[in-house]
Amino acid sequence: MTLWYPYTQMKDVASVPIVKKGNGAILYLENEHELIDGISSWWSVIHGYNHPELNQVLIEQANNISHVMLGGLSHRPAIQLADKLVKITPKGLNHVFFSDSGSVAVEVALKMAFQYWSNKNIVGKDKILSLNNGYHGDTFKAMEVSDDSDFTTAFSRILNKGYFLHTPRGGFFADAKTIATDVDLLEELLKKHHQCIASFILEPIVQCAGGFKIYSPLYLKAARELCDKYEVLLIFDEVATGFGRTGKLFASEYAGVIPDIMILGKALTAGYIGHAATIANSKVFSSFLDIEYNKAFMHGPTFMGNPLACAVALRSIEVFERENYLMKIKNIELIIQEEFSSIQSTFIKEKRILGAMGAIEVYDKKHLEGFQTLAYENGVWLRPIGNVVYLMPPYIIQENELRKILGIIKKWFNKND
Ligand SMILES: Cc1ncc(COP(=O)(O)O)c(C=O)c1O
Repeated sequence: MTLWYPYTQMKDVASVPIVKKGNGAILYLENEHELIDGISSWWSVIHGYNHPELNQVLIEQANNISHVMLGGLSHRPAIQLADKLVKITPKGLNHVFFSDSGSVAVEVALKMAFQYWSNKNIVGKDKILSLNNGYHGDTFKAMEVSDDSDFTTAFSRILNKGYFLHTPRGGFFADAKTIATDVDLLEELLKKHHQCIASFILEPIVQCAGGFKIYSPLYLKAARELCDKYEVLLIFDEVATGFGRTGKLFASEYAGVIPDIMILGKALTAGYIGHAATIANSKVFSSFLDIEYNKAFMHGPTFMGNPLACAVALRSIEVFERENYLMKIKNIELIIQEEFSSIQSTFIKEKRILGAMGAIEVYDKKHLEGFQTLAYENGVWLRPIGNVVYLMPPYIIQENELRKILGIIKKWFNKND
């Protein structure tokens, strides 16, 4: 096989279903099979496939210019998207650095954090703090700040890991008393090690690929206060949670907390073209302003700010706002809640729902062996990660399509218990 697939033991691959077309939430395969996409192509295709307005904007942009370097030149779609992102993200995040994927945007955030301290001539802040069950991407520094998992095992010997803390306990509704232990642990660690910590990076409220854990907004408030107190930059990785997935435009809104740096990707470009943004506040940005050239930010991916990506992102945000997507997401959440409530099994450890995300964690991943095949045979595309089966459908999914996906999950647990 010439094509090398991701996260795949190629020895076991006889064939991979070939998609020839997509429309709405449906994928049409060459073998005439149809699949309802329950996971929005790794959570990016929020408006569904083949969206006429997004298709059109790409054609128009391609007729002007498809790509131009941002080093020394600029273009309107990048400037307009930067302006728009500053407008819609929490107040104070004013400076947008584009890159081509979520992992690279994480690298960019971490590099910004390190260089922030070195530009201020503060030495020794060489480590990053993150959370267990976190996932921030597959590049090296992103792996270092992610929890150990199948994604990192092969590299564990060479990863230079920083500090990790337990995922805050108690779920979304945990009160101050419930999260007190985790807040105390955070304070203890920062008190002891803040001189060597550049930043604290975390996925706000929902940790996605690392296990779909949900925690309280109160923890983010505490994290903000403690990072200020101990002079550590706070980075929110909203690559997965951004653009409505958790029921707010950005998950950090649940806490009303503003990080120093925020990272967006995936749904930013609605699944059309890989792109991402790292958005810094003025405190971070101003540390790069100097008469010395080498205090400038030394990063510049070839395709950063690609005009096609920026044009489609701008239109995607426009559609999101115009068509009241937050209401669509609320309806998805209500349907997931209703259907999940009738799914019972002794295999199930926990069911978790927030916004257009539902996850069922089982005690042992062997309880999900064969699930993907059953879903596929029944016309549904779902792909469990470890011991969690989850859905993150496109926001335009029809109610009958969504109920069909949930019906397959129900069927699986009823059949196997
Ligand atoms: C929270 C988070 N950060 C970063 C990434 C990496 O993004 P990409 O796959 O675009 O490199 C992911 C991907 O799943 C993610 O969920």
